Parts: sequence; C-alpha cells; structure tokens
Amino acid sequence: MNKPLEQTSSVWMQSAERPACAALATDVHADVCVVGAGIAGLTTAYLLLKEGRTVVVLDDGPIGGGQTERTTAHLSNAIDDRYQQIEDLHGREGARLAAESHTAAIDQVEKIITAEKIECEFERLDGYLIASPGGKPDFLESELQASRRAGLSQVEMISHCPWDERGSGACLRFPRQGQFHPLKYLAGLTNAIQRQGGRIYTQSHAEGIEAGPPARVRTRDGSTVTAASVVVATNSPFNDLVTIHTKQSPYMTYVLGFNVPRGAVTKALYWDTQNPYHYVRLQSPSASETTTPQQEDTPTEDLLIVGGEDHKTGQANDSEERYRRLEMWTRERFPAVEAVRYRWSGQVLETIDGLAFIGRNPLDGPNVYIATGDSGQGMTHGTIAGMLLTDLIVGRHNPWTSLYDPARKTLRAAEKFLQENLNVALQYSSWVTGGDVSTTEEIAPGKGAVVRRGISKVAAYRDATGLLHECSAICPHLGCIVEWNHNESTWDCPCHGSRFDKRGHLLCGPANSDLSAVGDS
Ligand SMILES: Cc1cc2nc3c(=O)[nH]c(=O)nc-3n(C[C@H](O)[C@H](O)[C@H](O)COP(=O)(O)OP(=O)(O)OC[C@H]3O[C@@H](n4cnc5c(N)ncnc54)[C@H](O)[C@@H]3O)c2cc1C
Ligand code: FES
Repeated sequence: MNKPLEQTSSVWMQSAERPACAALATDVHADVCVVGAGIAGLTTAYLLLKEGRTVVVLDDGPIGGGQTERTTAHLSNAIDDRYQQIEDLHGREGARLAAESHTAAIDQVEKIITAEKIECEFERLDGYLIASPGGKPDFLESELQASRRAGLSQVEMISHCPWDERGSGACLRFPRQGQFHPLKYLAGLTNAIQRQGGRIYTQSHAEGIEAGPPARVRTRDGSTVTAASVVVATNSPFNDLVTIHTKQSPYMTYVLGFNVPRGAVTKALYWDTQNPYHYVRLQSPSASETTTPQQEDTPTEDLLIVGGEDHKTGQANDSEERYRRLEMWTRERFPAVEAVRYRWSGQVLETIDGLAFIGRNPLDGPNVYIATGDSGQGMTHGTIAGMLLTDLIVGRHNPWTSLYDPARKTLRAAEKFLQENLNVALQYSSWVTGGDVSTTEEIAPGKGAVVRRGISKVAAYRDATGLLHECSAICPHLGCIVEWNHNESTWDCPCHGSRFDKRGHLLCGPANSDLSAVGDS
C-alpha cells in the first residue's frame, strides 16, 4: 500500500511513464494558448491542431499532474446527478443534449485512441446503476424513463445485477460505457499533439492573463505567450475570482484498490444511489504491472477500484474512518476481494445544476474560455470541453453551447446556490475561533495544525525531523482559513477548494499563489 503520511498516489501514477516536456523559457506566439495539461486541456489542444490552429500548452506540473492522475476513469453517459434531476433543472431538451454530449465524448475518446494508436487499455463495457436500500421504491423505473426520454433508448432494467456473488436486486444497464488508463491516454495525446506541431511546456506556471487582443499569458518565470484565444483548463479557473466559484463546490472523494481473483467480479462499471454514492470498476494490470514475478506471464488478479465517502473539501479530517467505511462497504458486497493495494483521494467540483461550465469566461474578454465544474464526470466533461471549445474558437455552431455556458443561470438550482453559499459564508467564522491547538508544541512530527497568533492564524507543519514550518493560514483567493488534511499532508481551503502542500506551495486553484509567509498577509 502507498505511504499513509505523504500525498497518496493512484494506481495510474504507479503504472505509467510521464512524457517529459521542457519549461517555457522564451516568449512565444500561437493561435491558441491552453493553460492546463489534464484531459480537458490536452483534448482541446489536440482537436484545435486538427483544425489547423497553432497551439501552445502550459502546465505548472507534469502532464496529467492535476486531478486526472487521481481519477477512476469511468467514461459514462449515465450522468452522476441522474437524468430525473437533469431534466428537472435543464428541461427535456437539456437532458437530451446532456446525454448526446456525454455519449459523443466516449465516442470521441475511442476515435482518438484508434486514430493515434494509443495503448491505454480502453474498453467498452456495461455500466450498472443499483438502487441503494432505503431510497424511493420507484427510483429506478423513473430513472429508466428519464434516460429514455433523454434519448438513451438502449438503457434497460434488468432483474439481476452482476454486482456481487450473492446477486442483488434489479438495476439499470447502460450499454457502451468505457474505461481506460487515464495517464496512458494523456501520454498518447501528448505524443499526438507534438507530432502535429503543438508545443507543450510543463513546470510553467501561468500567473496572469490579459484578454488583449492579442491575449497575453504571463508565466511566473517571466515569459509571455501571445495568442488570439486562451483556454483556461486548470480544473478550477484562477482567472475567475468570484462568479464561477459561487456556482460550484469542491468535494474530496476517496478510493481503495483491492486485489481480487480474476473472474470473481464481472467486469463493468457500477454505481449505487447512496448519498454520497459509490463508484466501482475493475482494472486488469498488464503483464508488466503484476504484483508478483510468478504472475508475470498470465496475471490471475485484477484490481477492484472502489470510490466514495465524499465530503466538502476542508470540512472533515477523518480519512482513516472514511477508508475504513469504504473497505467495509466493499467487503460486504464483493467478498472475494483480498488485500487493499492502493488508497488515494482527490477533489471533484460539483456544480449547482449537475453539469460542467464550458465556454467563454463570464466578465472577461470574448477570447478567454474556461472548462470547469467536472461534477465527478471530468473524463467526459473534459472531452466535451475539447469538442465544444474547438467549435467556439473556430466559429462553428455547436448545439451544446447554451447547456454548458458558464454564464447560465439555472433558476431551479436557486435553493442549492443559496445552501452552498451559506456554507461558504459560515467558513469565515474561523477568523474568530481559536486554533486547532493552543501552541505549536502540541503538533507531532508529520502533522500540521492551525494556530491562532494575535488577530491572525498560522498554518504550522512539523516535519519528520521535528522542524517546524509556518506560513499564513489565510487563503490568497478570498481569505478563508485553510484546514490541515492529514491524509494528503496538504492545507485545504473549505471555501472554494484551493489546496497547498505542507509548506504552503499552491497545488490547485482558484487561488493562484502560495500561502504567504507569516506576517506578510
Ligand atoms: C478520486 C476521483 C475519481 C474520479 N472519477 C471519475 C470518473 O470515474 N469519471 C470521470 O469522468 N471523472 C472522474 N473524476 C473527475 C475527473 O478525474 C476530473 O474532473 C478530471 O480529471 C479533471 O480534468 P481537468 O483536465 O479538468 O483538470 P486537471 O486534470 O486537474 O488538470 C488541470 C491542470 O492544470 C494545471 N494548472 C493549474 N493551474 C495552473 C496554472 N496557473 N498554470 C499552469 N498550469 C496550471 C495543473 O497542474 C493540472 O495539470 C474523478 C476525480 C477524482 C478525484
Ligand atoms: S479557495 Fe476561495 S477563499 Fe480559499
């Protein structure tokens, strides 16, 4: 199992080579500058190159080093928020377009894999939606009807779901879903982009964007990319201070990977309807990734990957209990599972109306675009972003434009909007409370805690050698107080999900700078 006290790592991070790219060291020009080399940014870059545009991609980490390396990579058109709700929020035509776009995204991924000969263990397979006990008795029937109204005529109710050895009750079968190895897919996309003349620079932090024209993207190291258009695909956009972040909320989600004898669980995607829900898939290691030398030729084990136990980022620090509950839940339903081999966590951005924000950045220049609000479906939403943003940039009509418009107002989501923003407002009460501990003496090696110092608060981390590292606990985005995340050794902001490493260096936005030194804030 991976180390419990440092950042966790996923099965993908331990089984794929990252393509090496250089940092940007001079000023450059392109038709489009894409910031972010996750699935959304790289798909957009790839499709724009296919349209004959020149493209520069910037990322401040390695390829796929954001949430794409932490995903479970279900490719699904089943929509996490369920079609009944999508229809309620976006109308029947909206639900139809949502189904159409997610279906098209899976097809697009398959098309790219075939065209570029990407070896990333892509498979088509069924997905099963299982009603959890205690839910509405007619939930599955209503979801079946809503899915069919959305145009998914192949979805069917089946009486027995291949979910566990004992068999469970009825469930919905969604045919032609997909799964793959996300980092191998991104490695293939990177190669394809570079073959077409796209330029990708990693370790290149975009610090500021001016819409222009031409648009200018400044990097922390002082280089500038000029471009006709900019796409900010940084998962959470740092160039949008408030608007988008009042319409989406960050959630941490947890994953366990169990060894399971091959064949003991039917290969499929599985989702239940608990709140938060569980998501399950199998991964067959390729021969080179097997656990023991004896298995090298014919692997006899698969990895059962189970996720769930979500909570709002920075608003719980009980990961051990969450992993324990996830393990118990899995062992009850999949008695064949053996040892836990992987555990990791990551962040998803849930929008108030269940669908991503993809398009022009509200209140910005007309040539600045964003892709955010993955809603737990960032593999398909990221691919939809590539298709939709390409159409917007080349000036082609796209029927999904209004559905995903970042400026949309979904009136029926007003209650959720108020709830989520009240929750954010409440987080500011941390300004007047005490610290997690009274003095830094109480902080054990390997742990962090927020300490009150005068009118402000300090994020203090003690390393394994006993040395204390301190920085301001005030999030540079909009001033909430960060919380220690023991599972990942990070400082997480409970307001809009900015995260920082144990020494206060930025990991993900919407903040776009590190936690400041003590006394500077
Ligand atoms: C545990 C877990 C399970 C999930 N399971 C699924 C699933 O089964 N199916 C599904 O569809 N989705 C799933 N998701 C969601 C999905 O993984 C994400 O939504 C998706 O990977 C996000 O891709 P992205 O390209 O938008 O962002 P990212 O992959 O986060 O990429 C953003 C990139 O931007 C870079 N960046 C950020 N700021 C800057 C800056 N200022 N300058 C330069 N670069 C910058 C980062 O380094 C990063 O590489 C899951 C997520 C998690 C955490
Ligand atoms: S992420 Fe908005 S205040 Fe921290």
